Amino acid sequence: MEYKINCIGVFTSGGDAPGMNAAIRAVTRAAISNGIKVKAIYRGYKGLIDDDIREFTTQDVSGIVQRGGTIIKSARCMEFKMPEGRKLAYENMVKEGIDALIAIGGDGTFTGARLFAQEYNVPIIGIPGTIDNDLWGTDATIGYDTALNTIMHCVDMLRDTATSHERVFLVEVMGRDAGFLTLNAAIAAGAEAAIIPERATILEQIEEAIGQGRRKSKNSSIVLVQEHAIDGGAQAVAKMMEEAHPEYSTRVTILGHLQRGGSPTANDRILASRMGIAAIQALLEEQRNVMIGVQNDAIVYVPLTKAIHEKKDIKADKWAAMQILSI
Ligand code: F6P
Repeated sequence: MEYKINCIGVFTSGGDAPGMNAAIRAVTRAAISNGIKVKAIYRGYKGLIDDDIREFTTQDVSGIVQRGGTIIKSARCMEFKMPEGRKLAYENMVKEGIDALIAIGGDGTFTGARLFAQEYNVPIIGIPGTIDNDLWGTDATIGYDTALNTIMHCVDMLRDTATSHERVFLVEVMGRDAGFLTLNAAIAAGAEAAIIPERATILEQIEEAIGQGRRKSKNSSIVLVQEHAIDGGAQAVAKMMEEAHPEYSTRVTILGHLQRGGSPTANDRILASRMGIAAIQALLEEQRNVMIGVQNDAIVYVPLTKAIHEKKDIKADKWAAMQILSI
């Protein structure tokens, strides 16, 4: 080993995700049990630049496994995109005696991490924490399962009122550039259609799905619209629908940031716990600049570059399932 890791810094960055706390807890406890000191960096890269850093004991992470959000806060940091910001961050790392970083976040977090690792030769291990599930090399990201369940429950509730009033509901779902949340929530909640960026959907397809075509007996429908599948999101689809079909009573629901909140599901807590421990194990194995992933229920190390740049595909059978089940 080039040098021994005595102290790690852990931070959460980008959009928060349920299960991040479980990951912080696992990182902290796994590190301490291997004789490694843990420093919590507050507000992601911003805390590294501002030296907002505090040592954590095992007690500091007590009682948080069930809590959504992140106890060490999160932020999107513009300063870190500039070389001067990264220089300050490195100086603070040295000052704090931090030998390696554990970055919990998504695509943006890992893009920053990769650059920082290249510029300053800092060992960084990424833990995928995002509701979007858009990172290549891992079947699931922390927070995805919880968000999926949240969306499903919301759609279940909307179904009641949609049926009572015989309305078409257009429900806008988060996901940045990815349609995993939208498609899977649509399958789970029995939606009539899903509009996702990975597949072009034209108005006629939606019309068919909501009852004009295949099943005339349907008197209400729910269409899930991924936030960036179409300019203007669900509102834009509603406008198209209202113009083409003034006979439908259409309503829009934007689920928004409630999708990022709530107590993590058991799956997310377990995933986060395994990944947190694996991140420390990776450092002990002298891994550098990899993301912890899970494939077929086994922990894997994925180069950060691949996690960011390779495109994770929508499973063809799931898209097909959506079409088959919505008739
Ligand atoms: O990446 C997580 C996410 O919730 C995306 O689904 C969404 O597009 C984005 O973050 C919203 O970001 P913000 O909280 O900065 O508005």
